[in-house]
Amino acid sequence: MDSLEQLIDSARQDFQAAPDAVSLENAKAKYLGKTGLVTAQMKQLGKMPPEERRARGAVINAAKGQIESALNARRQEIANAKLQERLSAEAIDVTLPGRGRGKGGIHPVMRTWERIERIFGSIGFDVADGPEIENDWTNFTALNSPENHPARSMQDTFYIDGKDTQGKPLLLRTHTSPMQVRYARSHELPVKVIAPGRTYRVDSDATHSPMFHQVEGLWIDTDISFADLKGVYLNFIQAFFETDNVQIRFRPSYFPFTEPSAEIDIAFGSGPLKGRWLEVSGCGQVHPNVLRNMGIDSEKYTGFAFGSGLERLTMLRYGINDLRLFYEGDLRFLRQFN
Ligand code: FA5
Ligand code: MG
Repeated sequence: MDSLEQLIDSARQDFQAAPDAVSLENAKAKYLGKTGLVTAQMKQLGKMPPEERRARGAVINAAKGQIESALNARRQEIANAKLQERLSAEAIDVTLPGRGRGKGGIHPVMRTWERIERIFGSIGFDVADGPEIENDWTNFTALNSPENHPARSMQDTFYIDGKDTQGKPLLLRTHTSPMQVRYARSHELPVKVIAPGRTYRVDSDATHSPMFHQVEGLWIDTDISFADLKGVYLNFIQAFFETDNVQIRFRPSYFPFTEPSAEIDIAFGSGPLKGRWLEVSGCGQVHPNVLRNMGIDSEKYTGFAFGSGLERLTMLRYGINDLRLFYEGDLRFLRQFN
């Protein structure tokens, strides 16, 4: 067999045997490189007589062409194999069942929050919000609870590192009542506002949570009485529970920032606690000292305020007997409200 034929054959075999691009390029060098076997054949042409040289040159060139096309074919094969490998590694099995994306929902307490804003908005109350980290003056002193006043211990407070401008420790607000002061001091009279938001106390049982929600209500004008408080609150409750048939009572109580003061209880209409009273709110006529701290003439203006628990209202609405259920994150419970 002609040695060129053998050369082509062995090149084909070497190329075929090359498992990847790198070994293929090495095999190429063995034949077509500067010191390769085909190149060596070319170099011998110089020693030949001219007539033979031309014929031999053509034969070598043809052989070289065949080797090159074998090389290219193998290059293509290797590239294809690599692509196939990647495709199957990244393959997506479109027949697999989907992972499923749970639909989110609104938390029942947030639903209550939204309902309250809608109801009070419809009777002309502004909606305000304010800081959850409060200073001592706004949370207590301005609300007629001076330092060392025993009423301060009605609320077991979370103090935090950091002091206010008077050197008093900052705290997580224990109620939304500081919003009465913040809002009234920065708005023109008459003042008619609700301020829903998060509040914090060292509390934990079936009707108390360390983080809970209140909505503050405040209406100050020249002629606002306790009767207005009862009327507005009763209207709100009937709209909130979507029935006129709610058992509700105002129970005399004490708050330093209202006089007279009351607490509002509502009876469960459904659920395991049906018929049992639950306190939902504190309320009363804004104390003259508080009006003065708001910069308001207490001879000319009067007003009412209330602070209601959103978790408690939600418990009553759905007949839930333990407030902690709201914050355990159990989807079996939470899904029922969506
Ligand atoms: C107050 O916080 C007064 N600031 C309310 C007020 C406002 C009175 C304006 C007068 C004028 P009290 O501590 O009772 O009052 O709380 C009010 C309501 O918040 C309670 O009736 C209850 O519904 C809710 N509440 C209080 N503590 C918790 C708690 N730890 N977890 C859940 N709800 C709570
Ligand atoms: Mg109370």
